[in-house]
Amino acid sequence: MSSIAVDYSLEDIHRVVPEVWKMIRHSKVVVLKGEMGAGKTTLVSAIAQYLGVTDEVSSPTFSIVNEYASVGGQKRVYHLDLYRIADINELIDMGMEDLLESEYEVMFIEWPQLAEPFLPAGTVQVLLEKTGETTRHLEVAPYLFGEQ
Ligand SMILES: Nc1ncnc2c1ncn2[C@@H]1O[C@H](COP(=O)(O)OP(=O)(O)OP(=O)(O)O)[C@@H](O)[C@H]1O
Ligand SMILES: [Mg+2]
Repeated sequence: MSSIAVDYSLEDIHRVVPEVWKMIRHSKVVVLKGEMGAGKTTLVSAIAQYLGVTDEVSSPTFSIVNEYASVGGQKRVYHLDLYRIADINELIDMGMEDLLESEYEVMFIEWPQLAEPFLPAGTVQVLLEKTGETTRHLEVAPYLFGEQ
């Protein structure tokens, strides 16, 4: 896979999203890495908008698994934030395996460390770095199993 590195501010996030999507579109699972406030959730929201999945299906209070759908429900995107998951049993209990096997365009995962045993081959990672108050550096790379 080729890779990209881009720098962007909030104003140009919608310019960057098509380039990022082009890089990740063949992957079922996309892992997002970067410190708190790096812009992981902001990027996922921008990609979801780009894909036309603007219906938030899941309850906003159930913040571990968020599901977005297109109007009419044909297309589904999952966004998982595993920050509050304590161990792999919690992941199993919340139905991670069934979720991965279900029908969706793409699954984004923030704080994915505990999910590594479930990640399929071909998973990619988006690495985000805060370079200033409003600027971010982004790279897309293959997910390296066993690295963390
Ligand atoms: N270029 C940018 N891209 C993304 N976010 C930006 C940018 N510039 C400023 N921000 C701000 O930085 C914050 C990023 O928050 P966000 O929730 O996306 O981070 P996160 O990586 O998901 O953090 P967490 O690990 O806590 O979930 C937002 O308040 C956003 O407005
Ligand atoms: Mg987040």
